[in-house]
Amino acid sequence: MSTANSRLILGLWRIGQWGMGPEQVADLVSACLDLGIDTFDVADIYADYQCESMFGAALQANPALKSRIKLIGKCGIALVTPARPAHRVKHYNTSREHIIASVENSLASLGVEKLDLLLIHRPDPLMNADEVADAFDRLKRAGKVEGFGVSNFLPHQFELLQSRLNEPLRTNQIEISLLHLNSLFDGTLDQCQRLRVTPQAWSPLAGGALSHQLEDTCLSRTLSRVAHDLGVTREQLAIAWLLRHPAGISPVLGSGKLPHIRELVDAQNIVLDRQLWFELLEAAIGHPIP
Ligand SMILES: NC(=O)c1ccc[n+]([C@@H]2O[C@H](COP(=O)([O-])OP(=O)(O)OC[C@H]3O[C@@H](n4cnc5c(N)ncnc54)[C@H](OP(=O)(O)O)[C@@H]3O)[C@@H](O)[C@H]2O)c1
Repeated sequence: MSTANSRLILGLWRIGQWGMGPEQVADLVSACLDLGIDTFDVADIYADYQCESMFGAALQANPALKSRIKLIGKCGIALVTPARPAHRVKHYNTSREHIIASVENSLASLGVEKLDLLLIHRPDPLMNADEVADAFDRLKRAGKVEGFGVSNFLPHQFELLQSRLNEPLRTNQIEISLLHLNSLFDGTLDQCQRLRVTPQAWSPLAGGALSHQLEDTCLSRTLSRVAHDLGVTREQLAIAWLLRHPAGISPVLGSGKLPHIRELVDAQNIVLDRQLWFELLEAAIGHPIP
């Protein structure tokens, strides 16, 4: 395993829509490594529970990749689908048994021995923090997971789980973009900064919505104008806006197209000054800040 985690992460949620075979996915991973992206985000449920085996097939096509990448996995959501006939009702499951069985299944599907990071995918109202802590301990002792984190947790939910764990949670993967601002104001990013936990931003382009000028909104007009003035693209500007936050946000990119990924890697070179950052915030909120 390599030692560094890249700031930018490639998410595999949409892998089923990419229309790629294992060799093509392997080539994309390899190209990402060349661009400095070494961390890849999967989850048991992605692509109707097929994402991990699709990504595993890519790693099988180029096994040398396994030692060069970092893998983030997730568990805790149970979907109703023919792929899981036992699920009658969509629910969350953070029981010891489910967490451990889910990780073992993920490792088998991916064809790897260890996840670098395991996230509890969503806060579970039935979460027993002691039980999660025990599951984490067992997975760590068995060498199956290196570190742990959460996703979509509010600060109080993060605090509860952290209070029972033997080691610090390493991330909270949350929805953050110019179209999803809650974490800036609900204490989530403040908590990350206070604890020096690196937040990860899922859907940093709001699932692609920030990339198209579909609606003539204030945000859309401002993004286009500022991007034009800086000589960058709207997508690069949206990523640079996240990178400017002092919590050290790691965007989880969702593109399956290398030219798009390369463009967003270059966004790391954009220096966004404070006033431009606020100009975009104000456009996103839709009214002047107080
Ligand atoms: N923890 C959670 O609850 C959670 C929830 C959702 C997602 N996630 C993670 O976050 C990752 C990213 O989410 P996302 O896919 O919604 O991210 P995103 O980066 O906001 O959106 C990606 C979409 O934007 C499109 N796009 C259009 N123009 C683009 C451009 N110029 N550059 C880049 N993308 C462009 C992409 O299409 P092309 O492929 O054509 O470029 C793709 O369909 C997921 O893969 C998953 O790993 C986590």
